[in-house]
Amino acid sequence: MKKKSNKRLRSQSWFGRDGAHGFIYRSWVQNRGIPHDQFDGRPVIGICNTWSELTPCNTHFRVLAEQVKLGVIEAGGFPLEFPVMSLGETLMRPSAMMFRNLASMDVEETVRANPLDGVVLLMGCDKTTPSLLMGAASVNLPTIGVSGGPMLRGIYHGCAIGSGTDVWAMSEKVRAGKLSQDEFHEAESCMHRSHGHCMTMGTASTMACMVEALGVGLPGNAAIPAVDGRRNVLAREAGRRIVTLVREDFALSQILTRHAFENAIRANAAIGGSTNAVIHLIALAGRVGVKLTLADWDRLGRKVPALVNLMPSGAFLMEDFHEAGGLPVVLRDLGRNGLLHRNAITANGRTIWDNVKKAQCWRPEVIQPFARPFKRDAGIAVVRGNMAPDGAVIKTSAATPRLMKHRGPAIVFDSIEHFYRRINDPKLPVTKDSVLVLKNCGPKGYPGMAEVGNMPLPPRILKLGVTDMVRISDARMSGTAYGTVVLHVAPEAALGGVFALVKDGDIVELDVKKRKLWLHVDEAELARRQKRWRAPAPPMQRGYYKLYVDEVQQANRGADFNFLVGNSGAPIPRDNH
Ligand code: FES
Repeated sequence: MKKKSNKRLRSQSWFGRDGAHGFIYRSWVQNRGIPHDQFDGRPVIGICNTWSELTPCNTHFRVLAEQVKLGVIEAGGFPLEFPVMSLGETLMRPSAMMFRNLASMDVEETVRANPLDGVVLLMGCDKTTPSLLMGAASVNLPTIGVSGGPMLRGIYHGCAIGSGTDVWAMSEKVRAGKLSQDEFHEAESCMHRSHGHCMTMGTASTMACMVEALGVGLPGNAAIPAVDGRRNVLAREAGRRIVTLVREDFALSQILTRHAFENAIRANAAIGGSTNAVIHLIALAGRVGVKLTLADWDRLGRKVPALVNLMPSGAFLMEDFHEAGGLPVVLRDLGRNGLLHRNAITANGRTIWDNVKKAQCWRPEVIQPFARPFKRDAGIAVVRGNMAPDGAVIKTSAATPRLMKHRGPAIVFDSIEHFYRRINDPKLPVTKDSVLVLKNCGPKGYPGMAEVGNMPLPPRILKLGVTDMVRISDARMSGTAYGTVVLHVAPEAALGGVFALVKDGDIVELDVKKRKLWLHVDEAELARRQKRWRAPAPPMQRGYYKLYVDEVQQANRGADFNFLVGNSGAPIPRDNH
């Protein structure tokens, strides 16, 4: 491990000053009873908190922050907690994703503008993780990520129910007439009964796994339940550890290497992780100068089996995953089978292999052995063709095998509102072989690429007992959702191109094995349609909406803003007075 650095701490450019500037920088901090000796050159650690009552998954973060503070103080550092924009997945409209880049700017600029030497990121609900990682990566101080942990499993009528996943399943039962509205309402309070984020392998749990697989979090980060005392211990250990990382001048970019991203992509396949991780990791890699592409996702995820039997792909929940041994068991199995860069360094100063090589699996029905995996070839597949020249993704572990090679007539919806107006129409010319196509839900078109890609099935089809159909869109879907759903079509419909030209009745071909997504309409007809195509009107002409639509990149590039790609480091800004 590295030796102590002799580099002067950046916080000393504030707190180590003489004269009026030093007075100003120190005196106002002392107003809540901070002793003068806290400015003696000890590492100053920012605790970046996404606590908010508007982000229900993160409402226990004040407790976590206190634990981090204790750890920082125990290790001889000086903690300063600060809030940043918090992105609540359930309440924010049109989509929390629309504000991921904005929150990342908040993190980046707050960290750089203040006398901080290192940062602990408190992250939980879906977009709070990538936004904090992206912002921190663009500053590149020593950084540790602490996830808030999943909720306890939901229990309804004696059975386990999972966040999101069972919302989609139960609402389909209501629409099929198999569950009453009263029963559906009763399930609301049964599903989410403790602090924490969604306890399926949705986007929040996936991203918590990514934090651990990348090495930015400590071992155990992904799965310890939010209300388990060991989650607080993990936060406290992170507080202790970040002080050492600062003393060793160990920047985040030393952890976020290409090997770390490759480990995370394979881990995502092995856990049956969310498609949202594709977008977030590509965007994060862009902040540290690692060129990560959809082709990397497809190549690295191929042949990786899903080991973890969790909803939405499987049966269990994050609490079970934790009891089974959590992500270290999965990483150990990847490492034993040549699918892990064992020397990737992690936040605790050890290699990832050192962290996981002795992990034990306590519940093999939850984390299945590599030789008898839960699902084979479970990586996220990238399909291309005239409908998606720049690619689209499908989560193979959550898809129906027989639909992964399919041809069918399109039923097209120009917006999600159009979809809801039309889907219950008994005259909708839909059969079980139809392909549902949803347009104008991409980064610019929605705007914000909402999680609407897992379109509910038409009641007529549900009543036949059919539970899955091929669905294609330029939207995202919740990590808790499932089905044969092709997402993130790039370029999106709002930019024109063949995807914007699909019409009812056109034949669409999906062949996941061949990585093909093709619209069978001849070139002359497509050219005629292209001439008539008009771009949808932009939603708002001012403020953040305008900035977002003007600057957001397509999904295959991580939907980051053009001007945010890369990083600016942590230079000391000019004096403020
Ligand atoms: Fe916050 Fe699912 S809604 S993690």
